[in-house]
Amino acid sequence: MTARRPPRAEPSDDPSGSHRREPEGSDPGQQPQRLEDCRRCGLWHDATQAVPGAGPRRARIMLIGEQPGDKEDLAGLPFVGPAGALLDDALRDAGVARGDVYVTNAVKHFKWTPRGKRRMHKTPAQREIEACHYWLERELAQSGARVLVALGATALKAVLEESGVGLQRLIGQVLEHQGRQVVPTYHPSFALRVPDPASRHRAYAAIVEALRTAGELARARHR
Ligand code: URA
Repeated sequence: MTARRPPRAEPSDDPSGSHRREPEGSDPGQQPQRLEDCRRCGLWHDATQAVPGAGPRRARIMLIGEQPGDKEDLAGLPFVGPAGALLDDALRDAGVARGDVYVTNAVKHFKWTPRGKRRMHKTPAQREIEACHYWLERELAQSGARVLVALGATALKAVLEESGVGLQRLIGQVLEHQGRQVVPTYHPSFALRVPDPASRHRAYAAIVEALRTAGELARARHR
């Protein structure tokens, strides 16, 4: 288990994110063996710890989120905060057991900006998604999962390695990518955040539908 550092009051990012200087010690060419040693981008600097994926290696389905949130950064586990609670509900409604899926993130460190005492999520930059692909590739190589659920646009970009891919038009489809089936859907945080109840309900239903599809695809592959 990694030693935990308390969250810093000030991240190294500037508020716009446009003039970010990577903290000293960052090295995009680094090839670390252990996630906790990763300095491939600057996000390690302000995170408590790197958050690895969790779940059985033999899982037939891999769920990929964006990056750990505030709770995950402190716990060292993916999807244990509010987005994780919604994901648990959606898995239950889809008839897929969380214990049967491997859950991870495209980016393994929490990217945040301070607002008062709170640490507010910031969307990772493309270069951070690319730097962290090093770890996603390893997870994919070590996992038997042939069905991937991309939870949100960042996950979809990371899985397809395509920075310009648009999530909205691909929802409801199953994509074939490098011998795997990819099911794109909304990120659980989106379903929590949408202000009007009808849209919130539709986003949640789309997530449930994607997870149900993933369950059916995984079963069909093992028949
Ligand atoms: N959002 C994510 O994308 N991943 C988590 O682990 C938590 C929130």
